[in-house]
Amino acid sequence: MLYNLEEKEIMSAAVQPNMRNPDIGVAPFKHIIKKHLRRSAFKNKRILDIGPGQCDFLDLAKKAGAEHTSGCDFDPAVGALGMLRGHDMTIANLKQGWPYKGEVFDGIFCRGSINCCWFSSEERLVVFLDELAASLAPGGWMWIAPWNNPAPGKEDFLEVAQRACTAWADCNGIRIEMPPPRKRAKYGIDYSIPRVEIWHRQ
Ligand SMILES: C[S@@+](CC[C@H](N)C(=O)[O-])C[C@H]1O[C@@H](n2cnc3c(N)ncnc32)[C@H](O)[C@@H]1O
Repeated sequence: MLYNLEEKEIMSAAVQPNMRNPDIGVAPFKHIIKKHLRRSAFKNKRILDIGPGQCDFLDLAKKAGAEHTSGCDFDPAVGALGMLRGHDMTIANLKQGWPYKGEVFDGIFCRGSINCCWFSSEERLVVFLDELAASLAPGGWMWIAPWNNPAPGKEDFLEVAQRACTAWADCNGIRIEMPPPRKRAKYGIDYSIPRVEIWHRQ
């Protein structure tokens, strides 16, 4: 959601055209929080949103008492919007690796901003996933809906990625859910990709 002219101006330069739309709803984020996260998920916690877009989830986390709200995105417009709203922003291309090595968060959120098919091999994907999991505090929560879509000609990698993700999830106490269409619509994840899934840890 973009609330004023300054924010609209900043996001008019967004790399992804859908992020320029001022009316992306906040309701799906509220729904995800209500259904999946306890009240204690935010209070005095360090929260990371991977690819936060219009930063609505980070705003909700801050409002709910998060001590530290961080976002990572490759888009300078998203970085500028997040900083304007008082979040710590890191500009980095996630395809090139995990930018928070050695940093730990109490909650990691991501809606539609990582794609396991970005990586050129299973090994590189596993390194990325392991580094992501290492940034989650013991007892920390995760809610990630990846946008796993293979590039044309790379469809075979999807099966490899799914196998790697399942093994990684098992090792890290993460549950992989495949939500039914009604739930997807409510969470704003009714993507046209081969498999819509949510990675949870509570
Ligand atoms: C589809 S939008 C989702 C935004 C927000 N999470 C939401 O649900 O509304 C994808 C976000 O990820 C960012 N993004 C896409 N590819 C990226 C990459 N390779 N590295 C870092 N950020 C990326 C985009 O700039 C955008 O903010």
